[in-house]
Amino acid sequence: ITIYVPRDSAALAVGADRVAERIAAVAAQRGIAVHIVRNGSRGLFWLEPLVEVATPAGRIAYGPVMPADVPALFDAGFLHGGAHALGHGLTEEIAYLKRQERLTFARIGITDPLSLDDYAAHGGWAGLRAAIALDPAAIVQQVADAGLRGRGGAAFPAAIKWKTVLQADAPQKYIVCNADEGDSGTFSDRMVMEGDPYLLIEGMAIAGLATGATEGYVYVRSEYPHALATLTEAINRAEAAGWLGDDVGGSGRRFVLHVRKAAGSYVCGEETALLESLEGKRGIVRTKPPVPAIAGLFGRPTVVNNVITLASVPLILAQGAAYYRDYGMGRSRGTLPFQLAGNIRFGGLVEKAFGLTLRELVMDFGGGSATGRPVKAIQVGGPLGAYVPESQWDLPLDYEAYAAVGAVLGHGGIVVHDDTADMARLARYAMEFCALESCGKCTPCRIGSTRGVEVIDRLVANHNRPQQVILLRDLCDTMLHGSLCAMGGMTPYPVLSALDHYPQDFGLAAPDREAA
Ligand code: NAI
Ligand code: SF4
Repeated sequence: ITIYVPRDSAALAVGADRVAERIAAVAAQRGIAVHIVRNGSRGLFWLEPLVEVATPAGRIAYGPVMPADVPALFDAGFLHGGAHALGHGLTEEIAYLKRQERLTFARIGITDPLSLDDYAAHGGWAGLRAAIALDPAAIVQQVADAGLRGRGGAAFPAAIKWKTVLQADAPQKYIVCNADEGDSGTFSDRMVMEGDPYLLIEGMAIAGLATGATEGYVYVRSEYPHALATLTEAINRAEAAGWLGDDVGGSGRRFVLHVRKAAGSYVCGEETALLESLEGKRGIVRTKPPVPAIAGLFGRPTVVNNVITLASVPLILAQGAAYYRDYGMGRSRGTLPFQLAGNIRFGGLVEKAFGLTLRELVMDFGGGSATGRPVKAIQVGGPLGAYVPESQWDLPLDYEAYAAVGAVLGHGGIVVHDDTADMARLARYAMEFCALESCGKCTPCRIGSTRGVEVIDRLVANHNRPQQVILLRDLCDTMLHGSLCAMGGMTPYPVLSALDHYPQDFGLAAPDREAA
């Protein structure tokens, strides 16, 4: 009998290891032979630890399981799918999961993350095999035809970046994976590294073949010890199995991969600060141009892509560009793994094609706020993303539709606040966060963020309020247009959206038209 107990950090944080130990102990006591697989998480976090039992009908889910529940589950015959108050029936039939379009996350929660056999049995390496049969330009063309845009937040077409590196003439090129997932409320990169690390490895190897890069680095935030350990082990196993090294998958071509631990700086998620950090220097942003695709790591042409961008590539090569392109809307093709967090009832991972709405995500999937109070504001796209008011919850989640209202999809992080949220405090926090994390290279961000905290304090305290509003807008304009990178350049998004949509929280008159 096979039992699945996740090894994802989200499950470990609520006691999955102790649950697995208890299941093994009770089974031994009762003389029952069980095979416990430590899978990734299905991303239904309110049910973690989510224990699944393999039955002829499919996997049956039980959760959240605490160690003390285990004997009663055995008594109820859960090893054969027996009924119990914690039972949810067939996992695949749980509405939250069933209504998703899992392309990138197709295997996560299903397989043993470190099992090469499991990976191959669930379609693994098919993309890399297809890539080996193509010449580099044809691989890049597949990615272009699929319409894949960077999933780190900027949504730059991946194929243009890859093509720039492919066409650069240099003795050494690199693939760098940005796994410094620093945005608040985001965890999709982590789930891939912990739950399906070979997918990222396969994507990076394909990027190497496509561009002529023979070496890759994954820059993982230090706050992700489990991701670091799983990925490192997966790289060792993939290399031993011939999927990395001097003869990638029998292609005769070289691609080696290294993991580097970051040091806890938000701005090191900015690609050039990340490269400085990888080179062993302080994480300070470089001026662009040149873009890293021309002069990146150690001055060489470098693809810098986010985990989800690279993890989207194997499927594109395996199933063809048209298959992937078929999902989505407008210029936002494929799917985005949205991450529901903050004050939300059913937090977790929802992979859907672009084009659904925030209301569907937060209300239909997320079930509204965890406190049961009305939802007031939803921050989309991390700490530098705008607060989206209810009047905009029916916009399609699409890069262009969000840009048109001064918001961003970013890396797909969704953080929910109920009606007790003080938007002036949250706006102040955005400036404070920028002041703390600024690399200090440019004045609008280094000085502007500190002045921003002060001006919001004066505004709220009503020290000549109209004058402070003018000052704050002027400061945001300077930061928006004068900062060297997105840190200072995007801090005005949460600040201005709070001011525009929730002026009452700043002691100003309510807006005429906004429902918020
Ligand atoms: P950007 O617009 O400057 O660049 C996007 C990417 O395209 C970069 O990799 C750049 O090198 C590349 N690029 C631009 N022109 C190119 C060309 N002609 N040829 C080849 N490559 C070219 O945006 P940036 O500063 O890299 O990213 C900002 C975004 O990062 C924000 O939108 C924000 O959503 C996101 N972000 C994500 C975080 C996370 O945790 N995932 C944290 C903070 C911000
Ligand atoms: Fe550094 Fe801030 Fe300027 Fe970015 S905007 S370069 S983080 S000072």
